[in-house]
Amino acid sequence: MRPVLLGFFLLLGVMRSASPEPPPLKEAFARDFDMGVACASLASLSPEERALIVREFKVITPGSHFKPDHTQPAEGRFTFEQADALVDFAQSNGLAVVGHTLAWHNQTPAWFFADGPNPASRELLLKRLRDHIHAVVGRYRGRVKGWDVVNEGLSDKSDEYLRPNKWQQMVGDDYIAQAFAFAQEADPGAELYFNDYGTEYPHKRAKLIRLVKELQARGIRIDGVGIQCHLQLDRIPFEELEQSIAAFHALGVKVMITELDLDLVERLVWGADTTQHEEPTATNLGWKVAPPELLQRQAEQYAQLFRIFRRQHAAVDRVTIWHLHDGKSFLNNWPVKGRTNHPLLFDRHLQPKPAFDAVLAVASEPRS
Ligand code: XIL
Repeated sequence: MRPVLLGFFLLLGVMRSASPEPPPLKEAFARDFDMGVACASLASLSPEERALIVREFKVITPGSHFKPDHTQPAEGRFTFEQADALVDFAQSNGLAVVGHTLAWHNQTPAWFFADGPNPASRELLLKRLRDHIHAVVGRYRGRVKGWDVVNEGLSDKSDEYLRPNKWQQMVGDDYIAQAFAFAQEADPGAELYFNDYGTEYPHKRAKLIRLVKELQARGIRIDGVGIQCHLQLDRIPFEELEQSIAAFHALGVKVMITELDLDLVERLVWGADTTQHEEPTATNLGWKVAPPELLQRQAEQYAQLFRIFRRQHAAVDRVTIWHLHDGKSFLNNWPVKGRTNHPLLFDRHLQPKPAFDAVLAVASEPRS
């Protein structure tokens, strides 16, 4: 190699190694909000995945292991091994933990709702809800920062307030207030949240405002609301989302973006009701390698979202991405099983995508 050329490459090498590493997301947005990520079991995370979580994020939400099907698969049989392992991992690495979730229509074993061959009575169901919440929340007292006490309790139908899940049908609308009160008893120091999808849209926004006001009027403590934000490329209601953030903030509760992802593969179902499924077709299985122009549009739309979150920094307490990288997203299996999706900030090889760079760049813009 000619000496001039060799010199050039050496210089390039020196410049590269001297150029500072980009800051972790949690530092870049430290003045705006906490950055969080969902995770599966500790055993399923490689050393590289664990290191990336610890480097980039401040808060973890176990995506499955606090749900009732994991914590109490049969009445009185509690299984905490996986949740314990995640909480220990978080504690030894300086991460806060969000407990997800206590009362939900999914991943809740059938025994909760049965009394032998008959449906459980309201009293029995409330006793089970209380026992469950006391056992789970009580075990992690002081170690879990906050709980998604109730998940997805609002109805999607325009003329219906609450989702008619088994809790609502068998206890009444009151199950929500009861669940919050039980959680408050079990760990008075933990924050208590109501989490749902679609609350960026006006009809679900109005229901959530009503719910928060009703709880507050009854003296039931609610510290925050989660807007899940399972969003689809080119269909993000940016303005409505910002209006929802501001409206929830005006109620005096924290606002959290709890399950952010940005689906690249078209789907028919809106929101994230995991009980709904779609059959595979020629166009809904995704691509092994994502088309670069879609990744670029995704980057721009992620950046637009983070501009909103920063502008609303006084309201937004945390932004959690729903899993670490594209290979771990539930959108590879929902609403169509076995698709290949690319909804997150890191790709399957843990490399930052254009969306990651775009989001990080927003942190250095002036707040608009
Ligand atoms: C998903 C998890 O990511 C999956 O691993 C699990 O198999 C099903 O649930 N809304 C929620 C989350 O509140 O709990 C769901 O998480 C995604 C939709």
